[in-house]
Amino acid sequence: MRYLVTGAAGFIGSHLVEALLAEGHDLVAVDCFTDYYDPALKEENAAAFDVSRLDLAEEDLALDGFDGVFHLAGQPGVRSFGSAFADYARRNLIATQRVFESATRAGARVVFASSSSVYGDAESYPTAEDIQPEPISPYGITKLGCEQLAHAYATAYGLEAVVLRYFTVYGPRQRPDMAFARVVDALARGASFELYGDGLQSRSFTYVADAVAATVAAMDRAQAGALYNVGGGSEATMRDAIATLEDVSGLTLELVTRPAAAGDVRRTSADTSRIERDLGWRATTALVDGLRAQWEWASVRVAAP
Ligand SMILES: NC(=O)c1ccc[n+]([C@@H]2O[C@H](COP(=O)([O-])OP(=O)(O)OC[C@H]3O[C@@H](n4cnc5c(N)ncnc54)[C@H](O)[C@@H]3O)[C@@H](O)[C@H]2O)c1
Repeated sequence: MRYLVTGAAGFIGSHLVEALLAEGHDLVAVDCFTDYYDPALKEENAAAFDVSRLDLAEEDLALDGFDGVFHLAGQPGVRSFGSAFADYARRNLIATQRVFESATRAGARVVFASSSSVYGDAESYPTAEDIQPEPISPYGITKLGCEQLAHAYATAYGLEAVVLRYFTVYGPRQRPDMAFARVVDALARGASFELYGDGLQSRSFTYVADAVAATVAAMDRAQAGALYNVGGGSEATMRDAIATLEDVSGLTLELVTRPAAAGDVRRTSADTSRIERDLGWRATTALVDGLRAQWEWASVRVAAP
């Protein structure tokens, strides 16, 4: 199959590209290397493949001849209030609307990377796809807007779109603004870690290889219009995860507590029965194994000259 992957130099996108190449697919990888975090890290992520530099919010995407687009490019992170919002509007809403236009014209299927952030402090846990989304961050609002754009393009022009709501993805190359990346970096450097809130906030942490497998399965065999939670098997608190990382590394983390950040939800917990039933996907990586892989990757990098 011939695919296009957007956000290919990012954390999840770079793993997805490598998985698709390993399966022998023909693909084009696209990214504009935004400076949300150090673009040099994105160069490292994409060291094994070529990336076309293109800003989806303003440059045209030619999709003729492509079977599908994995649309992972975007502005992530829930700290999206204030002047940062302009980047969220541009890199999520504007860029995604343009991708949907191009995909509609070319008749290409789109798998879109949405987020558990659309749920906000959810009505019920574990959270199923059909509860009313109530995002509490501007980021979550832009992702929900993108989902609704997919629905509008499907209804008006027959776009074949599948929406995935990823739940906190982790593993090697995790974005440096994300909690586990900051924990492993602090452990490896002997630095302190700023914990926002009481540490009892919990997440359905999802190992990146599991998220990639769900993404590929969605392109291969999801029905057009499908919407799935992609969450990793079990829920853990930040304090549980920190304790596991201390065990795995044999080190003790120095914690500095800070007030909870605006836009951060208290809990996420994915009900994944729909994707399990329809696509036969469920997460298979235990948190301890995924954290060990992330620790090994990060500690080697920190130790490198
Ligand atoms: N990591 C998670 O836990 C998580 C959870 C839920 C949803 N998501 C979503 O999954 C996707 C990938 O997340 P990630 O953690 O790999 O983030 P990331 O920031 O590492 O990757 C996103 C990539 O998109 C690129 N990009 C942004 N705007 C662009 C534009 N206009 N044109 C071209 N490229 C552009 C960035 O340069 C970046 O490399 C994002 O859409 C994110 O919102 C991630």
